[in-house]
Amino acid sequence: MKVLSVVGARPNFMKVAPLVKELSRRGHQALLIHTGQHYDENMSKVFFQDLGMPRPDAYLGVGSGTHAEQTARVMTAFEKILEQERPDLTVVVGDVNSTLACALDCAKLRLPVAHVEAGLRSRDRAMPEEINRLVTDVLADLLFTHSREADENLKAEGIPPEKIHFVGNIMIDSLAANLEKARNSDILDRLSLSPGSFGVVTLHRPSNVDDPAVLEGLMGALRRVAARLPLVFSCHPRTAKRLAENKKRGISTGGDGALTILPPLGYLDFLHLMSQSRLVLTDSGGLQEETTWLGIPCVTIRKNTERPVTITEGTNRLAGTDPARVEELALQALEEGPARKEPPPLWDGKTAGRIVDVIEAWGAGRIP
Ligand code: UD1
Ligand code: UDP
Repeated sequence: MKVLSVVGARPNFMKVAPLVKELSRRGHQALLIHTGQHYDENMSKVFFQDLGMPRPDAYLGVGSGTHAEQTARVMTAFEKILEQERPDLTVVVGDVNSTLACALDCAKLRLPVAHVEAGLRSRDRAMPEEINRLVTDVLADLLFTHSREADENLKAEGIPPEKIHFVGNIMIDSLAANLEKARNSDILDRLSLSPGSFGVVTLHRPSNVDDPAVLEGLMGALRRVAARLPLVFSCHPRTAKRLAENKKRGISTGGDGALTILPPLGYLDFLHLMSQSRLVLTDSGGLQEETTWLGIPCVTIRKNTERPVTITEGTNRLAGTDPARVEELALQALEEGPARKEPPPLWDGKTAGRIVDVIEAWGAGRIP
């Protein structure tokens, strides 16, 4: 089969790498398209190296913009790829603008599209990703889910059950496959850190970083937590831009002393850093899942999560966005220490194989 997979933004690479590898291993024509939604070397190219991904067959170079601009640029460029390639199936992953744009192109051209990580719902439409998830799932012909709660969300929205395939968490395929390799990273030496003696931070949700007062409040909470446990903050470009703007306005937002702010890290460096940390503070979707698998306490700086399985079966705590509450939950997590639990069902590193099984059965007409 000719299967075209789409990557665009940082969290897409680790979800697509295992799939492309498995499709190629089984002799399928696996094409890889990069929309260019993320384009900095440390938000894109480094993941190709770290994850051993092939060079993309096409790079659409859409870059940044408003939601409409970015989505429209992906749609315009990807439509041409679809016309040219006429794939048997297109696979989109996650919930970024590239996911939605490519799914919409497929649907309009009546070409089949599969969604990996279907059925996640925060029930918060102020979050751009929620719109992307809802629309992509309505359009998808095959919906691959990572948890039973995602299956239930889809069924409740009227998605026919025969389209829904519970296959597990493909992000964990990349994590499990690279954890050993990541131990060769010298990131701890570079930062003069010893295992278990620090926490890791990421923040990039517009609701947390775009408003200067909200960002400053959260930076204050981070500084207070850092007084108890040194924190390393891998700073997303959106957030770096906002911190720089705040600084110009004279708002103290920078890292100092025990709060170290770094540019985004490559996958292997970041994986090693996170796996050796004592605590993670984040608003990332992927980190909530990775910490659950690693058994690292995670404090999620959001009012809701589309990944409740990381709370019920994992190590995640939902703090909301009140700085005092973030600090309180972080200190509580530190007191209680790690809570090693069994990973959720099918977060076992074998999800890509199960997805390709379904794709092959679907291609052979054995499932609708
Ligand atoms: C996007 C996704 C979000 C995902 C996140 C992962 C959407 C709507 N949002 O958010 O779901 O969690 O990626 O990281 O798709 N920028 C750079 N260099 C880059 C990329 C971005 O400087 O390589 C800066 C630009 O100023 C840009 C801003 O970051 O305007 C935001 O980028 P964008 O892709 O629009 O959204 P993210 O916040 O990255
Ligand atoms: N990640 C990384 N380097 C970093 C920060 C994150 O490699 O400096 C990885 C992280 O391990 C996870 C993915 O990027 O695999 C999560 O991406 P992000 O938080 O940008 O997006 P989200 O999951 O929130 O959509």
